[in-house]
Amino acid sequence: MRAITLDRDGAAPTARDDLARPSPGPDEVLIRVRASSVNGFDRKAADGALRGSMDYRYPVVLGKDFAGEVEAIGGTSEFRVGDPVFGVLMRSYLGDGTWAEYVTAGGGDGIARVPDGIELATAGVLGLAGATALDTLDALAVRPGDTVLVAGATGGVGALAVQYARLAGARVVATARPGPATDFVRDLGAAEVVDYTGDLTGQVRALAPDGVSAVAHLAGEGAPLAGLLAAGGRLASTIGFGPDQHPAAISIFGRPERGTLDRLADDVLAGRVRMPVDRRYELDEAPRALTEFSGALGKLAVSMP
Ligand SMILES: NC(=O)c1ccc[n+]([C@@H]2O[C@H](COP(=O)([O-])OP(=O)(O)OC[C@H]3O[C@@H](n4cnc5c(N)ncnc54)[C@H](OP(=O)(O)O)[C@@H]3O)[C@@H](O)[C@H]2O)c1
Repeated sequence: MRAITLDRDGAAPTARDDLARPSPGPDEVLIRVRASSVNGFDRKAADGALRGSMDYRYPVVLGKDFAGEVEAIGGTSEFRVGDPVFGVLMRSYLGDGTWAEYVTAGGGDGIARVPDGIELATAGVLGLAGATALDTLDALAVRPGDTVLVAGATGGVGALAVQYARLAGARVVATARPGPATDFVRDLGAAEVVDYTGDLTGQVRALAPDGVSAVAHLAGEGAPLAGLLAAGGRLASTIGFGPDQHPAAISIFGRPERGTLDRLADDVLAGRVRMPVDRRYELDEAPRALTEFSGALGKLAVSMP
């Protein structure tokens, strides 16, 4: 099968077409992958930045998000052959990946049915960023009238975090560069936009003199953002800023569990949220997508042959 792999330590990601199709284990299904996306995790994996924290089992197939059809069932499964499914691979090692024509998923992976009315190309960009955005907003317990600062609003997680904070009734302050990025976050529902390349804390203080109720910390330094919290405020960080650094900080590890994936799909189907896609790439172009990840507004999508 075709896949994008790292073939050895330090090798650049390349397309190859000689990999064996994987076989599903007893608690897995084999999926014919149709769509995926680029996450920061993929870039870190490709750069070798996860060496030391994860085992690289070569050839490493890159990719975490998937959407496709169930092709075969390993043992017993609630899914049937032909079912459209989406989700996220959650392995403790690097080796199996979704930037391939086939992948097996089950066990500890996140997998859910794609409801009728959602295309696989849409479902393929949702999993990791969407689940992480939902987990972040759940941890912040946003209430109507809160002012929520989303730091990193222009990325995949941020684009959904802005929309979920707005849905919860908050006034959203989003970070973005001037120009198209500012238009992008306003379009998603941000009431105020602050330019993170300038005096971010000064701009936020001018908008919320008593501090903000909550911070979704998806980019930038945590400490100055935590300093912007009103009394009783909360900060949820997807980038490792936790209670050891600040008493109001919660560290988020995105968990694409069934209920979370179902919520995401339902919200997309109902039109309550959408995951913006900046650019689309064919599978063979995925290595280039990794180099074009910075500066993207929302997601970069990958589609399989
Ligand atoms: N803990 C978890 O389970 C988990 C799960 C998913 C993601 N993550 C992490 O969460 C972060 C967000 O994920 P993502 O997929 O949304 O990544 P992303 O697409 O790279 O989004 C980050 C966004 O923040 C912008 N940005 C960069 N520096 C900033 C700053 N100082 N202040 C405000 N915005 C800034 C970036 O703009 P430019 O592109 O122009 O630099 C980019 O649009 C990533 O670091 C990712 O690795 C963690």
